[in-house]
Amino acid sequence: MSQDTPFPTSAAVRHPAGRNADPLIEVDGLNLWYGDKHALIDVDFDVYPNEVIAFIGPSGCGKTTALKSLNRMHDGTRGVRIEGRITMDGRDIHDRLVDPPLHRRRFGWVAQKPNPFTSTIFENVAYGARIHGLTRSRADLTEHVETCLRRAHLWDEVKDDLHRKSGTDLSGGQQQRLCIARALGTMPDILLMDEPTGSIDPVATARVEDLMLDLKADHSIVVVTHSMMQARRVADRVAYFHLGRLLELGPTETVFTNAAKPEARSFIEGRFG
Ligand SMILES: Nc1ncnc2c1ncn2[C@@H]1O[C@H](COP(=O)(O)OP(=O)(O)O)[C@@H](O)[C@H]1O
Ligand SMILES: [Mg+2]
Repeated sequence: MSQDTPFPTSAAVRHPAGRNADPLIEVDGLNLWYGDKHALIDVDFDVYPNEVIAFIGPSGCGKTTALKSLNRMHDGTRGVRIEGRITMDGRDIHDRLVDPPLHRRRFGWVAQKPNPFTSTIFENVAYGARIHGLTRSRADLTEHVETCLRRAHLWDEVKDDLHRKSGTDLSGGQQQRLCIARALGTMPDILLMDEPTGSIDPVATARVEDLMLDLKADHSIVVVTHSMMQARRVADRVAYFHLGRLLELGPTETVFTNAAKPEARSFIEGRFG
């Protein structure tokens, strides 16, 4: 899909790129409790192929919690209770026939603080393919690592140091692109990014934003961001979370210029949060 495909401004047209694609994920009536804390309340949204959807809203309003629900990262967390339905490929992701590691493999996770392994650059990226047995030979793996590093816009900077340098020897911005390359390593459909530029400098941030726009040719991206400018630059659609509810979801320009909910308007105008 070309990146300059215009997306409609009418919320009634549901696919942001204006194509007749089915959603990759459908979230229906999602509720989540941490013990007594009702952290997600009746949350509904879809994720389409090849879109960037940004989660915005004040802190503590459920953005990370919603992101983690998609790849079942709450599994095994004590006291978490989930109700509602998340469907992927027509199947409830909590269905007992769904294998959690296989499900999780379809997602790449990128955290706020770059968290590369201390192993070599090569091993950082090879990790996912190795544990899931995605490549058949050493040559395959080598090629896969190169592809992931190229797609993360990092190859040229590290190609001579793949086996020499550790992931942690890189600059902060490079580390974050390495983490993106690592996330691509399992050949995911969806990238989940939780404030991916929250701890890197503006130049490094611009590079990650460029990268996101490139990556949506092959992936969907759900990104939590504190930066309204970033949401505006990278997102096709924006979801505004408020006290555990998803209050507003629509094409980026519509949400930024003409949000229906007063809370969303106030937040976007910088009156709180
Ligand atoms: N592991 C947890 N145990 C208990 N409460 C949690 C946990 N994680 C998050 N919360 C609470 O759930 C709410 C939503 O948190 P979170 O999804 O992290 O918000 P956001 O990402 O929007 O800042 C907050 O009130 C937070 O304190
Ligand atoms: Mg968060």
